Amino acid sequence: QYQGIIFDLDGVICHTDAYHYLAWKKLADHLGIYFDKQINNRLRGISRMESLDIILENSKNVYTDAEKYEFAKEKNEYYRQLLMQMSPVDLSADVKNTLDVLRKIGCKLAIGSSSKNAKYILERIGLGYYFDAVVDGNEIQHSKPDPEVFLLAAQRLGLVPSTCLVVEDAEAGIDAAVRGGFDAAGLGDARVYSLAKYQLIQFDELVGIVSRKQ
Ligand code: BG6
Ligand code: MG
Repeated sequence: QYQGIIFDLDGVICHTDAYHYLAWKKLADHLGIYFDKQINNRLRGISRMESLDIILENSKNVYTDAEKYEFAKEKNEYYRQLLMQMSPVDLSADVKNTLDVLRKIGCKLAIGSSSKNAKYILERIGLGYYFDAVVDGNEIQHSKPDPEVFLLAAQRLGLVPSTCLVVEDAEAGIDAAVRGGFDAAGLGDARVYSLAKYQLIQFDELVGIVSRKQ
């Protein structure tokens, strides 16, 4: 079976992807820039500044780096206001039970997230001390589709990539996993992505996948 499982956070462990959308939408409205859910899907898994650049593709204006920094800060303030309302209620029983079972059958569990807010979110939902390793956007130079975040997580678990499974809701995240030499399971949007070895409709299907692997 897989010895380690590395989970993306936003859109996999909890539904903060919806909050990212709301916060970017508020910024885009403020700047008078068109933004919709389809554009939002392109932001999954990539860093805050890279996300901003995609949003600004729809702007007629050219902004300086200092202005862009302010916009990213503004978005993060909106986002943090939404995160403040999160509590352990925002961790579904399905996800929590599955994590507990995976741990019980001997898997090491890690988070590999591009977000600089990852540790705060884990605390809010009651998983602050849960994972064997947490690697987030503060520790990496290159965000997904670069494999850096997952490679570092595997290293922290003391495992090689071929023995770990990555769980992702973003195409950029599946790409990162495959480039790093990991098998990947796709959830949500990434479920139909061809590079995902497993397609998850429900989170608890992971238990079967992990125990079947030779
Ligand atoms: C990823 C999200 O987990 O984190 C992206 O999928 C987001 O949409 C990225 O842009 C960075 O998040 P943060 O919290 O550092 O702005
Ligand atoms: Mg995600």
